[in-house]
Amino acid sequence: MDLHDYKDVAENYDRYLAVMYENENNYDGFVEFYTDLAKKYGSGGIIDIACGTGAVVLGLAENGIIADASDISEGMCEVCRRKSQEKGYDIRVFQGDMTDFDAGRSYSLAIIARSGFMHLPTPEIQRAALMNIRRQLCDGGILTLNTFDPHPAFQAEQMKNSGEDYNFRLEYVNADGDRERLYTAISYEPVSQILSGIWKFETLDESGNVIAERIRPLTMRQTYRQEMKWLIELCGFELVDLYSGYRSKKADDLTPSDLVWVLRKK
Ligand SMILES: C[S@@+](CC[C@H](N)C(=O)[O-])C[C@H]1O[C@@H](n2cnc3c(N)ncnc32)[C@H](O)[C@@H]1O
Repeated sequence: MDLHDYKDVAENYDRYLAVMYENENNYDGFVEFYTDLAKKYGSGGIIDIACGTGAVVLGLAENGIIADASDISEGMCEVCRRKSQEKGYDIRVFQGDMTDFDAGRSYSLAIIARSGFMHLPTPEIQRAALMNIRRQLCDGGILTLNTFDPHPAFQAEQMKNSGEDYNFRLEYVNADGDRERLYTAISYEPVSQILSGIWKFETLDESGNVIAERIRPLTMRQTYRQEMKWLIELCGFELVDLYSGYRSKKADDLTPSDLVWVLRKK
């Protein structure tokens, strides 16, 4: 099981992310970015893949665009469905692994937002996902996904971590109304390009004593952009645009970036 497969993580995801994004990368402008893409490419149907609790699909709905949504984690799907129903949207949310789901219809735009694609742990699994998503797209359909350019300085630090060197990340109030502290320990293995995270949630009583602890693992793969270009070609896509972040700034060849790829099915 990975982090997002746990029901407690799904139930608390929006709460701890809200605090995390006050201080760290908050993917500024991502809903506007996907709304613009949806208007440009989404007339044949849109799917938000690895939708999590629905940040993108619900953001699109708020802008008048109804898409389908899917995630491997039933817990995440449940939260997304509940939020959609509460807001009165008619959004189809279904559990599915992006490597093999069959939506039973085609789309002109598939979105894998924020770090969704980086949760695929090997090139073989990344390839299976791209090939499967290609099957769900109509001719000329668009897929957008993200990667981070791996950063050698961060990697060097992470390679020194034993896997249990925790850093305090944030404190938030969980869905039961209890204060929780989140710590993460992140290590990097350069041959497989795997980032292994351990997320530790400590629940506190009113005096600040730790009364419970939950350990949740997270595996992500760092993908180099040159490797990504070959993978895209191998899987029958062509590059339409490559952005640095969500403000539609074109990525240049020299600056390590949070990359947003826009690909077209060939
Ligand atoms: C960091 S969350 C992002 C969620 C959402 N897109 C957002 O922007 O908030 C990554 C999501 O990817 C999902 N995921 C991981 N592997 C997947 C797979 N093979 N197929 C579909 N979803 C997957 C996880 O369950 C998790 O909900």
